[in-house]
Amino acid sequence: MEMINYDEKIPNNVNLSQDRRLQRALEKWHPGYIDWWLQAGPEGFQDVPVYLRTAVGVDPKGWAQFGFVKMPDYRWGIFLAPKEEGRTIPFGRHKGEPVWQEVPGEYRAMLRRLIAIQGDTEPASVEQQRHLGKTAPSLYDLRNLFQVNVEEGRHLWAMVYLLHAYFGRDGREEAEALLQRRSGDEDRPRVLGAFNEDTPDWLAFFMFTFFTDRDGKYQLEALAQSGFDPLSRTCRFMLTEEAHHMFVGETGVMRTIEQTVTRMKETGITDPYDVDRIRELGVIDLPTIQRYINFHFTVSLDLFGSETSTNAANAFNAGLKGRFQEVKIDDDHQLVNDTYPVLHLDGDTFRYVDEPALSALNARLRDDYIKDCGSGVGRWNKVITKAGIDFELKLPHQAFNRQVGQFAEAHVSPEGDVLDAAAWEARRDDWLPDQDDYAFVASLMKPVYEPGRFAGWIAPPKVGINKQPGDFEYVQIAE
Ligand SMILES: [Fe+2]
Ligand SMILES: [Fe+2]
Repeated sequence: MEMINYDEKIPNNVNLSQDRRLQRALEKWHPGYIDWWLQAGPEGFQDVPVYLRTAVGVDPKGWAQFGFVKMPDYRWGIFLAPKEEGRTIPFGRHKGEPVWQEVPGEYRAMLRRLIAIQGDTEPASVEQQRHLGKTAPSLYDLRNLFQVNVEEGRHLWAMVYLLHAYFGRDGREEAEALLQRRSGDEDRPRVLGAFNEDTPDWLAFFMFTFFTDRDGKYQLEALAQSGFDPLSRTCRFMLTEEAHHMFVGETGVMRTIEQTVTRMKETGITDPYDVDRIRELGVIDLPTIQRYINFHFTVSLDLFGSETSTNAANAFNAGLKGRFQEVKIDDDHQLVNDTYPVLHLDGDTFRYVDEPALSALNARLRDDYIKDCGSGVGRWNKVITKAGIDFELKLPHQAFNRQVGQFAEAHVSPEGDVLDAAAWEARRDDWLPDQDDYAFVASLMKPVYEPGRFAGWIAPPKVGINKQPGDFEYVQIAE
C-alpha cells in the first residue's frame, strides 16, 4: 500500500519535502486556511475530540484510520491516487498520447479555471453547514457532519495543491481567493448558485449531501478522466471520500422517512396528507420531504450549467474533462460526428433534439446524474412501501424550478406541465418548501448530545461508524 507521509507539517504522498519552494508556498497558505476554518468552519466544537477518519494510504481498500482528534488539529493533506504507469489521454483530440505531467501551455487558462471552480465548492459547503452542530439530532450525526466538513476542507487542499504546484503566481492568487470568498456573501459570494444557498436544518443537510455532493461526484468523475494526470489522480482519491458524504445524505433522509412512517403506523395514521396530525407526532410529513427533494434536486441540476456548451466541448476536445466513466463508454471518445439527444421545450411540448455530442456534454453528465439520483429515491420509497403507506417520492421534472440553462425562463410543474408565470407562482408552495415548512422543521431541530440517543424525528442508524456500538460517544463534549 502506498503510504502517506505524516512526519511533515503537511501530510502528503507527493514528495513535498523534495520541492522546497512548493513546500514553503503551501506552508505559507496554511495559517490562512486555519483562520478560514476557525472563522467560517463549524461553529463551536472546535476544542472537543471528534471521532474522525484520516487517510493513511491511497489505495481504495483500507485507507482510513479512525481516532479522536480536535478539528483544528486534523491532518489535512495532499493525497493523490497512485500513478498508473503508461496511462494515455483517454479522449479528445489528443486521445492515445501519453498523459501530461505538466500543464500544457495552450490549455493553461482553461485548466486553471476548472480547478478553481471545483476548489470553490469545497469550502463553500463547509460555510453553508457551519451552524448545524448546534442542532444535531445525535452524536453520531454530529460526527458525520464534522467528517464531511473536514474532508471538504481537505478537498480544498487538494485543489490548492494543484494551483500552487502547477500554476505559479496566478495559481497562488486563485488559492488566496478561495479563502476570501464566502458562501452567501453579497460582495464576495462563492462562484456557483447552489453554494450560496442556506442549509438551515438537518433535513436540508441530508438533502444537500445526497443531491449536491452527488453533483460533486459527477464533476470529479469527469475530471478524474483528465489527460492532465495530477488532476486525474487528485480527483480519483477525492471520489473515495465523496462516497461517504452521499452515504450520510442517503441514510439521513432514509432514517427521517423511517421515523415518520414508523410513528404513523404506531398511531394508526395511514393518510400521508394528514399533515397536521403527523406533525403533532414530531416527525416530518412525507409531502414536506418531497418539497425538500424538489428544491435540492433542482438547484443541483443548475450546477451542470447550460445543456449545450462550447466550454464543455473545448474542455473535452482538449482532453481536460471527460464524460462520466469515459473509459467504459464504447465509442471513439472523440465525438466529432456524434449526436446526443437533448430535451428541449418547444412551446408547450417537450421533445428530444439530437445535438452535436460535443456541445451536449453537460446535458449528458446531468442525465447520468439524474439516473443516479433516481436509484436513491427508489431506495427511500422501499421504506414507505414496506410500512404499507400509499405514497411515492419522485424526482421532479428536470425543467421544474430551474435558474440555469434553457428551462430557466420556463414555468414547468414537477409533473412536467407547462404553465404561465401566474399559475406557477400560485402553486409554488405546494411544490417547494415555504416559510411554514421551514419553521416546522426548524422547531424539531433540538440538539441531542447524549451518547446513544436520537432526536424524535429521526431513526437511529443500522450500524455505527467503524462498527462502533450504539452508545459510542462520537463527539466528546465536555460537561
Ligand atoms: Fe468535496
Ligand atoms: Fe462532498
